[in-house]
Amino acid sequence: MIYLDNSATTHIDEEILHAMLPWMQDFYGNPSSAYALGRKSRVAIEEAREEIAASMNAHPAELIFTSGGTESNNAILKSACIESRLVNALTISSIEHHAILHPAEWLKDQGFTLNILEVDSMGRIHDDWMQHLPSSNMLVSIMHANNETGVIQHIEGLKPNLPETCFVHSDAVQSFGKIPIDVQQLGVDFLTISAHKIHGPKGIGAMLIRKGIDFKSHQQGGGQERNRRAGTESPALIVGFQIAVRKAMAEMSIRHAHMRSLQDTMRILLKEHIPQARINTPEDPSLCIPSIMNVSFQDVNDGEAILQLMDMAGIAVSNGSACVSGSQQPSHVLKALGLSDKEARAAVRFSFCKDNSQEDVEIAVRELKSIIDSLT
Ligand SMILES: Cc1ncc(COP(=O)(O)O)c(C=O)c1O
Repeated sequence: MIYLDNSATTHIDEEILHAMLPWMQDFYGNPSSAYALGRKSRVAIEEAREEIAASMNAHPAELIFTSGGTESNNAILKSACIESRLVNALTISSIEHHAILHPAEWLKDQGFTLNILEVDSMGRIHDDWMQHLPSSNMLVSIMHANNETGVIQHIEGLKPNLPETCFVHSDAVQSFGKIPIDVQQLGVDFLTISAHKIHGPKGIGAMLIRKGIDFKSHQQGGGQERNRRAGTESPALIVGFQIAVRKAMAEMSIRHAHMRSLQDTMRILLKEHIPQARINTPEDPSLCIPSIMNVSFQDVNDGEAILQLMDMAGIAVSNGSACVSGSQQPSHVLKALGLSDKEARAAVRFSFCKDNSQEDVEIAVRELKSIIDSLT
């Protein structure tokens, strides 16, 4: 099988798996326990917190472990509106992941104002929306890199141009570990990250909550994570996350260059062999992460068939968000870029990791060409 769905999830690195095992077998103490076995787990968690926070220029106390991107997004949006009462309005982009869209829509049903920003044909939000602010007391949540097309939003411009009573959140699940992130430079109050997109384990992620914000826990229970996320922490998952981050940071420029060359090769091959394909990932490398290439087809009636036939050819790809796959719904991201329902259904997202080869890309384009020829 050729695996080109690394934005859905990645394989876990051998070294990471081995680093995790002792924390399940031998050092299984509850990190909140006072005896030596518990204290050992606590030390491991705090060391991981320090390293992961440092990787994005944050203070360790600002990093709260969660079960992943979905939980972090839900906790930040819901706590900002309900438990912490920081804001009475939300502004998001139309191309957010469902882990933002759905809680935002739920909050709208609870009476909070929801403002959804449209994007241009490349998927970038228009800067001028800030001239007509829908509220001076809102949480602005704009994703750093989009999971379907890879487009990057330059969110560093948000905070300095918003009133002090506004807060900025960014879902950085797809960009974290792939491009440098410095939370001071980005000017975010909240940030969401996840381990399984960078060869770490599933079920672990984190939310950054800037120091000084009076954040009250959305999930209630014990006093773990400085009273901000109740529930027994998993030292094994947290150590796995730590090693995944360590490797991603150490190898970032090599991985970046490698994935960018795969992306470039795919773009060239698509243009040459399947000229009717519409490429939805921006060509300018400063506007997209290197790991994604999204294409769609105007003349294919059964978009889902492309993915099924690719699967039969031994190539694992999807049409974007893992939650949308199989549901036959046209992608809301591609529709926001201006594509028709039909074109937004007939889309393929190729997503690369450090271990894919040029040959993987060549085979994938060859198979895609014969599938598109058979469907049109
Ligand atoms: C942009 C984005 N946000 C959030 C998530 C959800 O993250 P997790 O799978 O860790 O819950 C994903 C996963 O695909 C994503 O791509």
